[in-house]
Amino acid sequence: MNLANTTPASREALKAKKNWSLGDVPWEQFDASRVCPEILKVVKAAALVEYNAHDYATYLSNIFAGDDEFLKEIQQWAIEEIQHGEALGRWAEMADPTFNFEASFKNFTAGYKIDLSAKESIRGSRSGELISRCIVETGTSSYYTALADAVNEPVLKYICQSIAGDELRHYKFFYNNLKRYLEVEKLSPMQRLKIGLSRIHETEDDELSFAYYSANHTSLSKNRAANDNGGVVYNRQQFTEEYTVRAYSKYRAHHMDRVVSMVLKACGIDTQGFVAKAAAKLAWFSLASRIRKARKATKLAA
Ligand SMILES: [Fe+2]
Ligand SMILES: [Fe+2]
Repeated sequence: MNLANTTPASREALKAKKNWSLGDVPWEQFDASRVCPEILKVVKAAALVEYNAHDYATYLSNIFAGDDEFLKEIQQWAIEEIQHGEALGRWAEMADPTFNFEASFKNFTAGYKIDLSAKESIRGSRSGELISRCIVETGTSSYYTALADAVNEPVLKYICQSIAGDELRHYKFFYNNLKRYLEVEKLSPMQRLKIGLSRIHETEDDELSFAYYSANHTSLSKNRAANDNGGVVYNRQQFTEEYTVRAYSKYRAHHMDRVVSMVLKACGIDTQGFVAKAAAKLAWFSLASRIRKARKATKLAA
């Protein structure tokens, strides 16, 4: 089922089920003096990725064709993800009146496309797809929690806390469906871990770096043409490094502990034992080392 095919009435019904809406955000409390320019850059990028959830819903609708109950929930999921993009985009336009969210989004989707013709998951099975979705929701729930802890601007803090709550629910939603599919597909923890690690590795593909570029180097002004990039050419390595420094430096050790626990759970590995403790230490060390390298490459300060 494609979201585009849902009737306005069903969309309204799904909207009514949302936990929060743009109208709940205390926009009047916006404090321009508390906007951090570095955080603003990653918020713009996040807004574009979130707003692209419509395409992911179409992809998932193809992969899970026939599982009507699950697809109904996917519609709700996509509506919530799109709202994340709307909230972050609106905040970014308040923080930077020259930022054009819609034009930046057009540039992002013109250069980054999801394969909407796929009929089977690129993870090899429906369980594999659900593990991948759990990894993504782990990333987003931890990221918005870390961001909420780091920001001082009250409206952005509210938005990040609200989104973090949604992302944790999304993780549980995909995890519950993973358990259902595993009863039939029976992937071993090793197979699950392999899929999980490969999805983690993909965080350095084009999606985030191109979103970062599209948000920060195209359509910088509402007075400029939508495809005007100000002469800045896209370079995946460069923008991945910039994004890494600006986004992941907000993580603290306890955020990473949570990441590891959620990833292990999705892979069917004990989250309390020796392996979990060692993995948490290793993950924190790897992240710190990754940020150090990116900072050196970009010469960006913390
Ligand atoms: Fe989201
Ligand atoms: Fe989510």
